[in-house]
Amino acid sequence: MSLGKIFENKKSDLSKRIDKQKIPEHIAIIMDGNGRWATKKGLPRTYGHKKGVNVLKEIIKVSKKLGCKVLTVYAFSTENWTRPSKEVSFLLNLFSEALSNEIEGIHEESIKIKFIGDLTPFPINLKKIISSSESLTKKNNKFLLNVCVNYGGRQEIVKVAKEIALKSFSGEIEPSEVNEELFNSKLLTQGIKDPELLIRTSGEKRISNFLLWQLAYSEIYISEILWPDFNEFEFLKAIIDYQSRSRRFGGIESLPNESN
Ligand code: FPP
Repeated sequence: MSLGKIFENKKSDLSKRIDKQKIPEHIAIIMDGNGRWATKKGLPRTYGHKKGVNVLKEIIKVSKKLGCKVLTVYAFSTENWTRPSKEVSFLLNLFSEALSNEIEGIHEESIKIKFIGDLTPFPINLKKIISSSESLTKKNNKFLLNVCVNYGGRQEIVKVAKEIALKSFSGEIEPSEVNEELFNSKLLTQGIKDPELLIRTSGEKRISNFLLWQLAYSEIYISEILWPDFNEFEFLKAIIDYQSRSRRFGGIESLPNESN
């Protein structure tokens, strides 16, 4: 049997084990390991990022097919500016190129794309492509793809705290009115349900300043696979693992015979 056939068989076995009623509505992904993948193959790190775009395309397709509604991916963190300038330029060009090539397909699939983060330092051409992609797809309602770029969870929390402090200083709100709901309404992800599942590839067990507020109760799945090797099969494994968890949100599991 060919490797491709074995892979297809294993994939369909996993598909059968998925509970279609318990698909996470919102999945967040830290796509990690691009550089290591390329280095292992004796290639420049940038090859890993390029391959990473194809993987992302596959995972968007699978998520949508499964009935997931929102995917939020970490494409560029506030800390990524400290990489060699050549790699940073490559990544920014890659975002422009991938968006230009894929936006028609994204739109045809009725996917809405939204960029989350501080876009100010990005080159003007990238800002233009981001803005036109967002406006082209803004009415699409089958699926939402959030791409976090120049994003940091702490920076987002500080931004919200500043806005609330200003409102309080100007007398618009009382300090006693500051609560989680108000905080939520000012986040960059306002209006979007928190992710039920966070997937991080490449075996790293950190949150790395990603969606610090929003991930408070998310289930975390660490895959040992480097992002460029991640695929539908590994993604299904993550969902099955998630479905086996008991989500208690700090409470206790309710027993079948207990009325309340
Ligand atoms: C982490 O791997 C990956 C990134 C910093 C970039 C991820 C970006 C993409 C996959 C492209 C997405 C494209 C669009 C249009 C959204 P790493 O470089 O940190 O790998 P390492 O840990 O092995 O060094």
